[in-house]
Amino acid sequence: MIYLDNAATTKISSTALAIMVEIMQEHYGNPSSTHGLGRDARKYLRQARESIAGHLKVSADQIIFTSGGTESNNLAILSYALSHQHQGKHLITTAIEHHSVLEVFHKLEKEHGFEVTYLQPKDGHCRIEDFRTVLREDTLLVSMMAANNETGSLLPIAQVGQILQEHPAAFHVDAVQWMGKRPIHPQELGIDFLTGSAHKFHGPKGVGFLYNSMPKLKSLILGGTQENKHRAGTENLPGIVAMATALDESLENWEKKEEHVQELRTTLLANLPESVFLNETGPQLPHVLSLMIPQVGKDSLLMQLDLAGIAVSGGSACTAGTLEPSHVIEAYYPDQTERINHSIRVSLSDETSLEDVLTFTQTLKKIIGGS
Ligand SMILES: Cc1ncc(COP(=O)(O)O)c(C=O)c1O
Repeated sequence: MIYLDNAATTKISSTALAIMVEIMQEHYGNPSSTHGLGRDARKYLRQARESIAGHLKVSADQIIFTSGGTESNNLAILSYALSHQHQGKHLITTAIEHHSVLEVFHKLEKEHGFEVTYLQPKDGHCRIEDFRTVLREDTLLVSMMAANNETGSLLPIAQVGQILQEHPAAFHVDAVQWMGKRPIHPQELGIDFLTGSAHKFHGPKGVGFLYNSMPKLKSLILGGTQENKHRAGTENLPGIVAMATALDESLENWEKKEEHVQELRTTLLANLPESVFLNETGPQLPHVLSLMIPQVGKDSLLMQLDLAGIAVSGGSACTAGTLEPSHVIEAYYPDQTERINHSIRVSLSDETSLEDVLTFTQTLKKIIGGS
């Protein structure tokens, strides 16, 4: 199988897997227990927290471990908005966020009377001028992803953070697709909440974190006092330690890894059949390519590639199993039904080889024709 669906999930690294097994077998105490095994587990939990905090240049008590990106997004947005609604009922996000952000905003609108502005990309960009125009005195929270999961587009989070230095609104960044590819330092960027998910950077599935700089963020899950009362439930210690290991590994020599991925991208684009082209959506991470393939319907193409042993996707993993059009491509290219129905996502990792990419382009040529 040639795996070109790394934006959906990545293969766990062998180092992360090994430490996960070791924690399960040797350090299986509950971090809340007072005996020796509990203290031992607590030590691993503390080390993982310090390690992740170190990469973000924040303090360890600002890291909340969660079950992944979806939970971190829910926790930051829902909890902050509900407990601060007396300060303002206006929220800003973008039309191209992941469903784990958009659905929370829909809930806040429908059930709690918030007004939400969804920034639309224009001419392939989410523009900072548009953000400036919609920011209001009563804006309570802004949520903008660092990089989009269907196109790899980079959003202007640094500029938004700078503008918000002069404004009381809190700033949440979904950095799920960014994390592990390049460093990010939320405090330098004026970010109050930042979401990360281990399975996007060669860690295990079902574990993530939220960087939280706000005091008294109310837990959405009720129970024990774990995670400094921000998230009840026994911590997933094997997953958390594996996540910290995977983040260390991903950020080690990240420039070299990105250079490799950039080379893969250039080769892929240079070898595409003539009729296939890249959906241009402004500056992008090199790992994700949204390709428009006019000759053949998306579902049929995905099936033929699958039969040929190549895994790519029709959009984000959450909608890939459905026939729903991509809300991201729709936002970038409104009214272009042809493009919405004919775009696929190819996503690379530092482990993808040049041969994988060339096999993909050759197979694509066989399926749709073209030299
Ligand atoms: C941008 C983005 N945010 C959030 C998520 C959700 O993360 P998780 O799968 O860890 O719940 C994803 C996963 O596809 C994503 O790509």
